[in-house]
Amino acid sequence: IIMQYNSRQKKVLPGKVVWVTGASSGIGEELSYQLAKIGSPLALSARRENELERVKKKCLEISSLSDKDILIVPLDLTNRSTHESATQSVLKHFGKIDILVNNGGRSQRSLFVDTSIDVYNAIMELNYLGTISLTKHVLDHMIQRKKGKIVTMNSVMGIMGAPLATGYCASKHALQGFFNSLRPEVAEYPEISIINLCPGPVQSQIIQNVFTEEVSKVNANIGDQSHKMPTDRCVRLGLVSMANDIKEAWISDNPYLAVCYLWQYAPTWAWWLLNRIGKTRIKNFKSGVDADVSYYKKSS
Ligand SMILES: NC(=O)c1ccc[n+]([C@@H]2O[C@H](COP(=O)([O-])OP(=O)(O)OC[C@H]3O[C@@H](n4cnc5c(N)ncnc54)[C@H](OP(=O)(O)O)[C@@H]3O)[C@@H](O)[C@H]2O)c1
Repeated sequence: IIMQYNSRQKKVLPGKVVWVTGASSGIGEELSYQLAKIGSPLALSARRENELERVKKKCLEISSLSDKDILIVPLDLTNRSTHESATQSVLKHFGKIDILVNNGGRSQRSLFVDTSIDVYNAIMELNYLGTISLTKHVLDHMIQRKKGKIVTMNSVMGIMGAPLATGYCASKHALQGFFNSLRPEVAEYPEISIINLCPGPVQSQIIQNVFTEEVSKVNANIGDQSHKMPTDRCVRLGLVSMANDIKEAWISDNPYLAVCYLWQYAPTWAWWLLNRIGKTRIKNFKSGVDADVSYYKKSS
């Protein structure tokens, strides 16, 4: 069964037009490379056009795709008035969108009591409203064709809570609720799938880009990411989930995966455990030590 699941991506994905948001770094960048190798024409979106050009160049180097198979569509997810024209430009170029990967987003590293409400507004604008706005335009097209996949890079934080990430968790829970409710609304189209990918910690630029206490304040404490899941493994598992229309995939190493299971099946224990882990994370954060790394080193 596992081999069948693994091999399906090579049958299902080649030739499928995939629009990836957040393609300029991290998971979205790696996803673009793996999709290019499989032979999927790509629309690449993010705000930084120069980074998208770099990703496109590498996609062309490592695949048999040609220049016209990769379209760069600069896009700010928070600028919702541009989403319709961006969708039209992808459709004009490729004639269809088979798969939308809602990947662009930012995390958070700050305590609620110290954080401006503007930060919560900005996180919801980007992670939640930006994502559902783009989805709305692309879904209209998929409904006309009666087929397509809407894939959203959620997070284990869309399933459980985590201190220092109240706004991020809220935005990912919102996406989880949204897409789980949208799925039955499109159930009359059996070839439209709604897929929620929920990674645990993965190597990327996410910590450099987190929201902090103020919208314009950058995170000075980046720390070591070597304990996190390698980006290529996260993407490989994501592609398997995508090709097999898995509605919700938890893509994580332990101990985070174990906490996910506890959260789902034994929440009282999960809440007790999170209070204990949370205390250490908050203490480390306040003393300027990277919260994740120090917790991981302590527990391993
Ligand atoms: N890494 C993890 O541990 C982890 C775990 C679970 C889930 N995730 C999710 O995975 C997704 C990708 O994150 P990542 O880890 O790859 O982080 P990343 O390396 O920081 O990538 C984030 C991407 O989002 C784009 N982005 C940020 N703000 C944007 C905006 N306003 N409009 C359009 N694009 C925007 C960035 O491009 P520009 O700056 O060029 O716009 C970048 O391409 C996120 O949704 C994140 O929540 C990550």
